[in-house]
Amino acid sequence: MTEKINQNIINKIAYLIKSGNLSAAKKDINYALKKDSNSIFLLNSLSLIFFKEGKLNESIDISKKILLLDDNNVDALINIGNSLKEKGESKSALKFFLKILEIDKSNEYVNYNIAMIFYDAKEFNKAFEFFKLSKYADFNEKMMQCKYKIGHFEEFNSMLNNEINKPNISRTISSLSAHASVNLKQKDKYKFCNNPLDFIYKKNIDNHRFIKELIEKIDKMEIDNRNQDLLKNGEQTAGNIFEKADKHFSSLKEIIFEAINVYYKKFQDENNEFIRQWPKSKNINGWIINMSENGFLKPHIHEEGWISGTLYLKLPKKINDQGKIKFGIHGYDYPKLHDDFPSKTVSLDEGDIIMFPSSLFHETIPFQEEKRICVAFDINP
Ligand SMILES: [Fe+2]
Repeated sequence: MTEKINQNIINKIAYLIKSGNLSAAKKDINYALKKDSNSIFLLNSLSLIFFKEGKLNESIDISKKILLLDDNNVDALINIGNSLKEKGESKSALKFFLKILEIDKSNEYVNYNIAMIFYDAKEFNKAFEFFKLSKYADFNEKMMQCKYKIGHFEEFNSMLNNEINKPNISRTISSLSAHASVNLKQKDKYKFCNNPLDFIYKKNIDNHRFIKELIEKIDKMEIDNRNQDLLKNGEQTAGNIFEKADKHFSSLKEIIFEAINVYYKKFQDENNEFIRQWPKSKNINGWIINMSENGFLKPHIHEEGWISGTLYLKLPKKINDQGKIKFGIHGYDYPKLHDDFPSKTVSLDEGDIIMFPSSLFHETIPFQEEKRICVAFDINP
């Protein structure tokens, strides 16, 4: 395949995508496609952008076009696999990923994705082996999760001991270590954030007009919804809402960064890695969660965040604990040897922004009336 576009354009597009400037990248791609409509690079870039924007069907369509030009194109196969997985079609995604291993057996990223599909299907032994092959991203943490989930606590503890001498900054290991300390009645030796329930902080942004405008904007937004196994009777947007060129989301970003600074000032003297290694450069990733009657979100942590939070735009009627956020040490169906796990339930008002270490489990208590709309975010190091 001959590429008729020059290297400068290729570099520029790759840079724009990497820095999150997706609309500018798309503009350049569409312009360049007029010169070379069969450029694999341009089509793969476009497919990736659609994926990042949550336009999963468009992403698949473009990648299928690439496969007509080059049926073994690994990037296109990966894009399709990722989009199918995101749509919740894991079995179809697995087929695409296994096909890639026929072309490139040691592809780390693909081995990892296959491991994740087995992990989600609760096939932890198979998942463990693919994570081990992958050596990709958080494969080590995932291997520990597999051992813990199967209940092989001795093997888990020996893996955990190996981690203590490394920088104690993994949110996943922190949550596992906290769980194991309660579950197995052992010391929590992992020093990311030992008592995460003490690090929950809430403040109200006190700006009704802004909240109202944000709700109106969200109502009008057209976006494919991400598959979210943890979420019941609700929808969650795909992609990063802060990557949109939009004045409300830009203002919201500033409001969140201000709140994060207040949070840091409050806890700055605490002696743990969560505060000591506080990220100097901060990236924000955000998504909208829209829940209707009987909606709830199962306990989870935000592995990729450092500090996480939620801004509440619309809440259901206050009946008992309905619609409140509950924090705790237990989640992800980790095996429990007893039920004595600490938790904290926090009541919420519209305009509240709540922040907590990303290693802390949290869930939404099911509610019966009306809607609950919030913007969740992670500050990533
Ligand atoms: Fe969350």
